[in-house]
Amino acid sequence: MPFDTSDLHLVALRWAHILAAIVAVGGLFFARFGLLPGLKGIDADTQAKIHESIRKSWLPWVIIAITLLLATGLVNFLLFNNRVKEEEWAGGQWMKRENYHLLFGVKFLLSMVVFYFASALVGRGRGTQWIRDNRARWLSFTLLLAIAVVLLSGWMRTRHTGENLGGQEGVSIRQRTEEKPDDRYKDESAGSVFREPAPAP
Ligand code: HEM
Repeated sequence: MPFDTSDLHLVALRWAHILAAIVAVGGLFFARFGLLPGLKGIDADTQAKIHESIRKSWLPWVIIAITLLLATGLVNFLLFNNRVKEEEWAGGQWMKRENYHLLFGVKFLLSMVVFYFASALVGRGRGTQWIRDNRARWLSFTLLLAIAVVLLSGWMRTRHTGENLGGQEGVSIRQRTEEKPDDRYKDESAGSVFREPAPAP
């Protein structure tokens, strides 16, 4: 199949979104299970100095990750929404049938909570001091929510890509052709028969 560049912007959005998620969730995981246990036994003054020093270098990455997640996530959602509408997936009932808006709403709210705690953990404001006073607890809480967001995202994705099916022949994806430019979502079963077992050779 010739290299198809028409979806390149979607791939770029996905790369940016997933890389930002890796930085955000990886940072939380490292802080909770690498940094905090590693600081045990060190006196409180030195710990505070280390936290302040890390804060300064880590803060820009938290800001970049949150900005990228929000921007690429929103654009991706709007583009996907438009496409489902324009192509009238499952007779215009796809979003409703798959509860996609509900899943997105829950994901968005959970992400906002994650962003609040992730920022507070590297912040300095007096109003959020209670979070830094119990870093282990709030890091664990934020990490759990962030993992829930990742799981929810994967679930949202399989609503329209379908589960991976594969027999001995391997898996294949229905391709666009000249005659059928992009009909893969048009029928009633849109999203669930996207992947089909490869035809026998
Ligand atoms: C803690 C913050 C976030 C994390 C860790 C996260 C993580 C992810 C991951 C890993 C995926 C890819 C799922 C896959 O391909 O299997 C994804 C997809 C997506 N994310 Fe996020 N995300 C976050 C925040 C956001 C926000 C704030 C928005 C919207 C404003 C958003 C909108 C989306 C959309 C629309 C998709 C595509 C889902 C689909 O394929 O149907 N995400 N996210």
